[in-house]
Amino acid sequence: MKRKITNPFITGGYLGPEYFCDRLEEAGRIMNAISSRRNLTLISLRRMGKTGLLKHIKFQLEYSSKKCTVIYVDLLPTTNGNEMLNALSTALYRIRKSEKNFIERLLTIMSSLRPKLTIDPLTGEPSVEFKVESSSGVQSGLEQILKLISEIKQDIVFMFDEFQQISKYPEQNIESLLRTVIQSYPSVPFIFSGSSRHMLENMFMSPGRPFYQSSELMYLDRIKEDDYRVFIKENFNKSGREIDDVSISKIFDWTRLHTYYVQYVCNHLYGKGGKKTGEKEVKSLFHQILTDFEPQFVNYRNLLPPHQFRLLQAIGVEDGVLQPTSGDFIRKHDLTSPSSVMTSLKALTEKEMIVFDKGKWQVHDVFLSRWLEYHYRA
Ligand SMILES: Nc1ncnc2c1ncn2[C@@H]1O[C@H](COP(=O)(O)OP(=O)(O)OP(=O)(O)O)[C@@H](O)[C@H]1O
Ligand SMILES: [Mg+2]
Repeated sequence: MKRKITNPFITGGYLGPEYFCDRLEEAGRIMNAISSRRNLTLISLRRMGKTGLLKHIKFQLEYSSKKCTVIYVDLLPTTNGNEMLNALSTALYRIRKSEKNFIERLLTIMSSLRPKLTIDPLTGEPSVEFKVESSSGVQSGLEQILKLISEIKQDIVFMFDEFQQISKYPEQNIESLLRTVIQSYPSVPFIFSGSSRHMLENMFMSPGRPFYQSSELMYLDRIKEDDYRVFIKENFNKSGREIDDVSISKIFDWTRLHTYYVQYVCNHLYGKGGKKTGEKEVKSLFHQILTDFEPQFVNYRNLLPPHQFRLLQAIGVEDGVLQPTSGDFIRKHDLTSPSSVMTSLKALTEKEMIVFDKGKWQVHDVFLSRWLEYHYRA
């Protein structure tokens, strides 16, 4: 964790509290749920900082109290119950890999699922793989793993990132199966997280679903402007450099204060190395970003059906729209009819290219939104 890096604005992963703009309130709320043994589900737009916040909390729990084991499982790459089991066992294996007895027990109790150890050729990290023939295999595997985990003589916290993934598995019963197994461990807090608000709300708020009312929902918003401003200034100042307030406001405005995009802009501005960073540098970087990403954005024009691209372009040009089916909007952007707008709106939402946020339809990728605005402005 103590890797020294030269640019304080990271654009991927979590490298420790010094690179993290503290979300004191949000972290406090999650910590409170954990210490009160409540389950919590963290929901936000993509790239707002869910994973970062979970890793920050994991770091605090493990490094400050030293009495807690956090099992963080990223479900994004998993597509079925077997892969979920692999992801969970791999997370557990990596935490305990120095304890020979524990690992031997893990492999022994799971022997009927034919465990296989592999090493990731790029990271060198070990992984565990099972061969599960049926969903009863997934169930018994889950039960065994949770039983083994409950023997760990420390507080345990589970974090399931990209949890909505399980509702896409082909097996119909994984949700209820997981719920049943989890329910047998009421003293273990489970933190779920994901960006698909609609899917997660359905999972936790629909009476017919296994996870109904089993977790409180928490919506992660933008980092507070004042906190982010101090974080940016301090990190420039630490190396004897300056960035002025007007420039920071411009960054917040242009990136909509969306965490990943703020980090990306600050990382590049810092990387340029000048003693003073002002509006000139900021503007020039915005232009450079649009140029750098242009080949990728132009490609969307080739990949999307023309009407969908026209709608995307219109939303970008307007920097968000309240009523995309209104006559004015349709006429201004040549969008044919309300019904065709509805069809394209649905398709673009499913592709995660647009999102309804704070009362407006917005292009999800802020840089794409700015490129559309710049390129297609009247
Ligand atoms: N509080 C923070 N301070 C500084 N950087 C942060 C903070 N939170 C997140 N980041 C950075 O912002 C970027 C996006 O954050 P993260 O990956 O946590 O978002 P996410 O909501 O999990 O996104 P996704 O939905 O795509 O998984 C990452 O590069 C991360 O390092
Ligand atoms: Mg994430």
